Amino acid sequence: MLKVEEINVSYGPVQVLERVGFSVGEGECVALLGSNGAGKTTALKAISGLLQVGSGSISFLNNSINHLKPGERVRAGLIQVPEGGSVFPYMTVWENLLMGASGQKEAWKIRNRSADRVTRMFPILKDRKNSQARLLSGGERQMLVLARGLMALPKLLMVDEPSLGLAPKILLEIFNALRILRKEGVTILLAEQNVQLALQLADRGYVLENGKVVMENSSRELLESDHIRKAYLGL
Ligand SMILES: Nc1ncnc2c1ncn2[C@@H]1O[C@H](COP(=O)(O)OP(=O)(O)O)[C@@H](O)[C@H]1O
Ligand SMILES: [Mg+2]
Repeated sequence: MLKVEEINVSYGPVQVLERVGFSVGEGECVALLGSNGAGKTTALKAISGLLQVGSGSISFLNNSINHLKPGERVRAGLIQVPEGGSVFPYMTVWENLLMGASGQKEAWKIRNRSADRVTRMFPILKDRKNSQARLLSGGERQMLVLARGLMALPKLLMVDEPSLGLAPKILLEIFNALRILRKEGVTILLAEQNVQLALQLADRGYVLENGKVVMENSSRELLESDHIRKAYLGL
């Protein structure tokens, strides 16, 4: 479904991604792993079109998307849930959800129905649908940004570091929410530094270090590898 081949991405003179390649098949959940600064967000932004690639190619559903603008990539079904869980603080949960569908064609026809569907997946949001988003807890807010991403009817949902800054108990709730999405058949690319949680969810993973892919394998193999156990799991 998504194929990233040998992309190079720089911020000004500083090259951040070097010949990075990975793929995501339809219905898969693939983890992009790496510590802070490894280049995960940069890779997702290159896919969304928020950053230009210097060279290399990105194709989605067998078409090259290198030349597409960010809005066109959204309409093609590539949706990025940005890190940090930012919401429109003074809008209600429901209004935030409706904003998630605003880029789609004929959004007004489908958005109330879609909002119903995603709040059924995340009952906490249903209970709080009339609360202002600023009043949500960190975990609820992260759930809202996930749900808002779903409102755009993603073919591929890219989730950037959903665990960031959340307490352990809430982390589990977020990963359970992601698990529900998987069961619903949503294809997911998950950028995460919490290797343990990410690999419990994902089918496969790629490890980014200093802007390069240094390992790729099934989640099970990665969890058993010496390098992962030493460098990321503290074992
Ligand atoms: N806007 C930017 N300008 C310059 N350098 C940046 C910018 N954003 C990120 N970087 C650098 O690019 C590298 C990769 O960052 P990032 O993709 O955010 O990593 P990750 O998401 O894995 O933590 C880091 O060294 C970071 O300092
Ligand atoms: Mg990041």
